[in-house]
Amino acid sequence: MKKSLLLIGLLSSVSFAQQQKDYTKQVDSLMQLMTIEEKIGQTVQFSGGWDVTGPTVSDVNEDLVKQGQIGSFLNLVTAKATKDIQKLAVEGTRLGIPLLIGYDVIHGYKTIFPINLGLSSSWNPQLVQLTAEKAAEEAAAEGIHWTFSPMVDIARDPRWGRISEGSGEDVYLGKKMAEAYVRGYQGDDLSLPTTIAACMKHYIGYGAALAGRDYNTVDMGDNELRNTYLPPFKAGIDAGARTLMTSFNVINDVPASGNKYTLKDILRDEWGFEGLVVSDYTSINEMIPHGYAADGKDAAQKSFSATLDMDMMGDLYRSYLKELIEEGALSIELLDDSVRRILTLKFELGLFEDPYRYSDLDREAETIYRSDILEAAVEAARQSIVLLQNNKAVLPLKTSNIALIGPLADDQSSIIGDWAAKGDRKGKAISVQEGLSELLQLPNLKAVQGTKIETSDSSGFKAALKAAKKAEAIVMVLGEDSNMSGEAASRSSINLPGNQSDLLAEIRKHNPNKPLVLVLMNGRPLDITAEVKNADAVLEAWFPGTMGGQAIAEIIYGKTNPSAKLAISFPVNVGQVPVFYSNKTTGRPMNPKNPKGDYRSFYQDIPNKPLFSFGYGLSYSKFEYSNVTLDKKVENGVEVLDFSVSVKNTSKIDGYEIVQLYIQDVAASITRPAKELKGFEKVWIKAGEEQTVRFKLTREDLGFWNQGEFKVEAGTFKFNIAPNSDADLTNSFTLE
Ligand code: GLC
Repeated sequence: MKKSLLLIGLLSSVSFAQQQKDYTKQVDSLMQLMTIEEKIGQTVQFSGGWDVTGPTVSDVNEDLVKQGQIGSFLNLVTAKATKDIQKLAVEGTRLGIPLLIGYDVIHGYKTIFPINLGLSSSWNPQLVQLTAEKAAEEAAAEGIHWTFSPMVDIARDPRWGRISEGSGEDVYLGKKMAEAYVRGYQGDDLSLPTTIAACMKHYIGYGAALAGRDYNTVDMGDNELRNTYLPPFKAGIDAGARTLMTSFNVINDVPASGNKYTLKDILRDEWGFEGLVVSDYTSINEMIPHGYAADGKDAAQKSFSATLDMDMMGDLYRSYLKELIEEGALSIELLDDSVRRILTLKFELGLFEDPYRYSDLDREAETIYRSDILEAAVEAARQSIVLLQNNKAVLPLKTSNIALIGPLADDQSSIIGDWAAKGDRKGKAISVQEGLSELLQLPNLKAVQGTKIETSDSSGFKAALKAAKKAEAIVMVLGEDSNMSGEAASRSSINLPGNQSDLLAEIRKHNPNKPLVLVLMNGRPLDITAEVKNADAVLEAWFPGTMGGQAIAEIIYGKTNPSAKLAISFPVNVGQVPVFYSNKTTGRPMNPKNPKGDYRSFYQDIPNKPLFSFGYGLSYSKFEYSNVTLDKKVENGVEVLDFSVSVKNTSKIDGYEIVQLYIQDVAASITRPAKELKGFEKVWIKAGEEQTVRFKLTREDLGFWNQGEFKVEAGTFKFNIAPNSDADLTNSFTLE
């Protein structure tokens, strides 16, 4: 059948099918025309080489595209380049099946938002959803259909560089963030040229890498897998995520990219996920060095039979699937199932209706850096910066006679963090220096580096000390280089790199009574136990993105009231890792009143709480909590636990407060965490005003997995509603 007739046939039905969102007929009729080689071509993804995010197996091969042997590209961007490669597929192949183009749009595309660990510190799912919407608009304007985001790996080890890409240590916050990203990227209609398909990654357990070393082994019980690591993936899939990416790691002795239990039994059979599963970059090939596959053919067989649909950059499906099917080692039905999932996504994206819809030069020009997108970036930065300390209320600063010191004070590159897609590192981002200079109207405000991020050379200290001496207040911007977090960026030390801490100590020593503000830019929790003693105020800015310097300046001078709270605990030192609020009590819980006594679970040499706890963050406002209540009722036949609390802003400054509900299942058929976040609300409370904040839970919200079965058990529960996870659970109720 002539391609043109086929396409006309398809298109005439697609527009009708668009409303129905069911493409079964179109997919089936197309598949009836496809050869086995063309079907296998759909399972193949190559890198366009525009960015290298892993070892390159082979370059773009236009002949393979024309032969229909490639179904997808990653790392190939711009309206022009995507249109050119799409033309090859649509006009140069027998059936004209469009390519699917993916890219890592992790926290923005050109306009870069705070890193994801910063975004989750906003505790504002609506805002995070907005950042994903805006990122999707910019990416889709440059020809991208699909982002390899959100990364929803629960992580509790700051030595792991990719902790920067996720939403922190907590299951509930992680679920809410996963939902927000998926809704933001995909919107209500994937076929619009402003929405892109989301990809839940990295499935599964990647954040639990042994010793925080990237790609390292992961081993955990099935209960831990189901109660901690799987829920954010299920939340994203329930929110409609169309795709999922497998992880590099072994999970319980079997590589995640060939793991039948997690991919087929849980994802496909238990959850009924019918979306596209893509490998991580050559993760199928890596089953050979993992010691799980004898060779490429064996690896291809193991991944494909586990229902992994698309081979990212491994070139193994293209090489072996036909042979494996002909030998009977794989069934043609399995291939049809995968191809059906891939083609369905392409129909949903509208690529058959208009393969060039996303590659529009005019829309590209009018979308990138659009003012509403930049505004979303500055608001996201404002709401992601955590005020950790404000001794003597030095913030907001009163004086504009400041010394601005530190290797990141005028940085415009690291400020946008790792995985910054097509973000500009050469001047687009607003540095702290620019932000302060603009806000203070001090065009000559210059930063004094004092030192580099990673050096032992202290020759720059002198100039910094000189600048500090002349000023009435000191702002120091210290931290990490953006390439010290992200992929393959594990660090054995979580101290400030180089001699930055020495510089801070020197500045403090010579200016003991001068207000000293420490601004941190980093991609992981750091050991700042020493640093907090050498600063009056500490702002955790993460890598705040394109508009970060403006947001930091606004907070320092009180134009913005800081509202973020930590999504990850800050350990006292690396020896305390992993430390997280929702740990188990043990049989000998540490006695806070006598933490180092009578054979309890503690370290002899450090305080046994984190330096800063999950959910902690200060504001310029002051909030008082009172009147915590629980009303057990039945609504529409469902038992509802209706919690409430009164929160009063006793200050003279309007501000956000993140109100948190923590619960403990006191005794259950398996041990449960000492505390679990089960609800949060970010509320704006005007100065002097009081608000009642409510949380409604059902029995389901109190359940847990045990030996593959989800259970809700009667019994006693403790709870509290508080500003952070340090709160004691002083209230209780019984579930019948
Ligand atoms: C990388 C990362 C993954 C990313 C993919 C494509 O290795 O692990 O997060 O989406 O390759 O760049």
